[in-house]
Amino acid sequence: MARSFTEITDLTTSEVLEVFELCRKMKTGEIAPEPLAGKSVACIFTKASLRTRISFEVGINQLGGNSLYITDKEIKIGVRESVHDVAKVLSRFVGLIMIRTFAHSNVTGLAEYATVPIVNGLTDLVHPCQIMGDYFTILEHKKKDKYSIAYLGDGNNIANSWLNLASLIPIDLRIGTNESTPPDKGILEKARQNSESSVLLTGDPKEAVKDADVIYTDVWASMGQKDKQKEKENLLSKFQVNSALLAGAGPDCLVMHCLPAERGREITDEVIDGPNSVVFDQAENRLHIQKAIMAFLLDR
Ligand code: CP
Ligand code: NVA
Repeated sequence: MARSFTEITDLTTSEVLEVFELCRKMKTGEIAPEPLAGKSVACIFTKASLRTRISFEVGINQLGGNSLYITDKEIKIGVRESVHDVAKVLSRFVGLIMIRTFAHSNVTGLAEYATVPIVNGLTDLVHPCQIMGDYFTILEHKKKDKYSIAYLGDGNNIANSWLNLASLIPIDLRIGTNESTPPDKGILEKARQNSESSVLLTGDPKEAVKDADVIYTDVWASMGQKDKQKEKENLLSKFQVNSALLAGAGPDCLVMHCLPAERGREITDEVIDGPNSVVFDQAENRLHIQKAIMAFLLDR
């Protein structure tokens, strides 16, 4: 079975650090490997995307490969054809499969049956490439042994991925959310097992951001949940990242958002466009980190 990246915890701590170092070298141009030369990559999308689609297509090209954009019109994974059969067929044609979809089980199913690496480009459960790129962005902006990261809002795939990273890397993670919108229980428990990290779940946004190095937020209603927009808004409005909340963190606090943002909901214009915001650095780093993840997997 090939090595896959279905979630951050598929890697060990030293492998995560290895990917960050590879990313740094690729971003600075110190190395420019082409592990996809002569190969194609299947990019399966059953949800919309700007950053993930473009960063993968550009990154695959820079690694010497050719990308194939596949939507539900073509394969309807698990409906028109089983995950097993899609994995077996695609493995005969391509060197790697990237997938963005709803059910996480589609990604783990592909990883189980494919003979090429699978990379998760977001599921309802996790968004591992995003948080790897975001941590790399933090490393570029601040030099510290351990960062305090305040995630505010829905306990969704982004919150779960921060927890996954905290189970491998020492992080002081504070999740400010409503008790009705918690992160995944199993992922939370696993993060709490890492004695080098601390994980606080709080309903008080001010407690979450106190002296934080990073304030991070995401949409309140994720893709596939837009029918719950009003309900989520009612539950999460006090977690909006605005100037008043930012004032409770350190002056050098980085403001992060995976994008797309719903400006005026989870974050205000003055904060996302303000001097603390690094949201477009995060977007750019998706390219570099995914190239590093693909190169790492293809080298196993
Ligand atoms: N952050 C992110 O994954 O963006 P897209 O949904 O546009 O790919
Ligand atoms: N939580 C968001 C992230 C988008 C990149 C979603 O799943 O829609």
